[in-house]
Amino acid sequence: MSSDTRSTRPHDIQILPDQEALAGAAAARFVAFAKQRTDAGEPFRVALAGGSTPKALYTLLAAPPYHDEIDWSLVHLFFGDERCVASDSEDSNYHMVKASLLDNNPDIPPQNVHRMPAELPDHDQAARQYEDELRTAFALSDDSQDGVSVPRFDLILLGMGPDGHTASLFPHKPALHVQDRLVVATEPGLKPFVPRLTLTLPVLNAAVQVLFLVAGKDKADTLARVLNGPPDPENLPSQSVHPAKGHITWLLDKTTLPLS
Ligand code: 6PG
Repeated sequence: MSSDTRSTRPHDIQILPDQEALAGAAAARFVAFAKQRTDAGEPFRVALAGGSTPKALYTLLAAPPYHDEIDWSLVHLFFGDERCVASDSEDSNYHMVKASLLDNNPDIPPQNVHRMPAELPDHDQAARQYEDELRTAFALSDDSQDGVSVPRFDLILLGMGPDGHTASLFPHKPALHVQDRLVVATEPGLKPFVPRLTLTLPVLNAAVQVLFLVAGKDKADTLARVLNGPPDPENLPSQSVHPAKGHITWLLDKTTLPLS
C-alpha cells in the first residue's frame, strides 16, 4: 500500500520516496475516490489545489492509465482557491490546471469545470458568485437551521505553504474565522501577493475526503508543528482542517521533508 503509512491524529500519513511517487500515490487515491462515486452513477465533485505541487498529479490524471480509469462525464472540478488575476495569467491556479489537466483531457465536459471568477474587479462579488455556483452544483437550499448550507465535496485536494497556510487561508487573516460563508475574498499572506478567493473552513471541514499533498524543503519544520505540535491554528491554518465526518490523508515527499 505504501512505503510508510502511519496514523497519528485522526488522519493518515503516507511518506513517499520522491515527488514522482507522491503524484502517483495521489493519482491512485483520486481514481479510487472517483470510482466510489462514478461506478454508482453518481457525480464526483472535487476541489482542486493550486500552487505547484499538484501539477504532476494533474498531468498523470490526464493520461493513461489513470485517465482511462475515470468516467470524466461524472467528474466535476472545482477550485479550493484562486488568485485574483486573469485566468490566463501564470499566477492563475486555473491556468495551471488547464495546462496540466484540461488541455490534455478532452473527456472533461466544459460545463463540469467550475472556475472561480477571480478576475472580476469586485472580489467580494466574485466570491458570492462562486457561492451561488456551489449552491447550484450541490443543490443546496439556504434555509438550513444555521443559515448556511455547506457543500460536501467528495474530495478536496490541498497543499500547505511554508507558513502553514492551506488554500488561501493564511495565518492571522480574517478569512480563518469565517463561519457563515462558503467562499470569501482575502488578502494574501505569501507570494504571489495578490488578493485571493478561497473556500472557507466550514467547506473544507465538510468534505468526505481531504488529501494534502506536501513537498518542499522549506516546509519541514512547519509540517512537524502542524502534525505533531500543540494546537496553534492562528499561526498554522492547516491544523484547522479536520472534517467532522470525513478523513484526511497527508501525502508527503521524503526527499524534501526529512521526517524522522
Ligand atoms: C495557492 C494554493 C496554496 C498552495 C500552497 C502550496 O493558491 O497557492 O492553493 O494553498 O497549495 O501554497 O503551494 P506549492 O504546492 O506551490 O508549494
